[in-house]
Amino acid sequence: VGQNLVTIKQVDSTNSFLKNLLSNSTPVPEGTVIMAEEQYAGRGQQQNTWHSEPGKNLTFSLLLKPHFLTPGQQFDLNRAASLGVYDALYPLLGDKLKIKWPNDIYYGDQKLGGMLIENSIQGDKLKDSVVGIGININQENFPDGAVNATSVKQILQKDYELTLILSEICRYVEVYYLKLRAGQTEFVRNAYLQRLYWLNEERSFESENRGVFNGIVKNVLPAGLLVIEDTMGVQMEFNLKELKF
Ligand code: BTN
Repeated sequence: VGQNLVTIKQVDSTNSFLKNLLSNSTPVPEGTVIMAEEQYAGRGQQQNTWHSEPGKNLTFSLLLKPHFLTPGQQFDLNRAASLGVYDALYPLLGDKLKIKWPNDIYYGDQKLGGMLIENSIQGDKLKDSVVGIGININQENFPDGAVNATSVKQILQKDYELTLILSEICRYVEVYYLKLRAGQTEFVRNAYLQRLYWLNEERSFESENRGVFNGIVKNVLPAGLLVIEDTMGVQMEFNLKELKF
């Protein structure tokens, strides 16, 4: 991953750009990384937009071809990508770094980055996976709307070389991806749970059916559903659309 690196000065979204190449049948080797200095229409999860100050942060997409996974196993890619980013940043940031379900990267209670993974399916297997990753590295000021955001620079008071962090992320994403390919799914799932924010802790959540309620994060199911146990001991499963927290 990352041997084939394309840097673009300005693009709408690296995910859209890479998906366009694929839909034009342009041959793109697995592991290719498209990085943008500036995205003017960056996309986040759940139809959100992703803003990033030009030149300051990492905004890139990498291409995987997980033909060995079924659509029901696609959340393992979210796990592998989150773990890759986590392990790349851990030497800099240490134990306050967490993965927030499903695949946000947090430092304490602040969001450092996130990812948008877009998969295509062929037959009963996955075909292409566009793994879009945005990590705040050297941005110092965040707009009022982004109260919850932070960057490596805000935490460590130091500028970092984007391409160095990028190559570490690529290295570790590859490690976890190859584990999936070798069938070591349990290893990847356990590693993800170990780094999961709020595991076995009580928090307040909000869902469409229950309104605001307290519960404990218990597990993430193979397909990616979050399991929360309420104060009565009842376990419930949620997808991202059903839950606010
Ligand atoms: C989120 O936290 O909602 C996910 C943010 C994902 C942003 C990255 S930046 C590179 C890639 N291109 C996009 O348009 N989005 C992802």
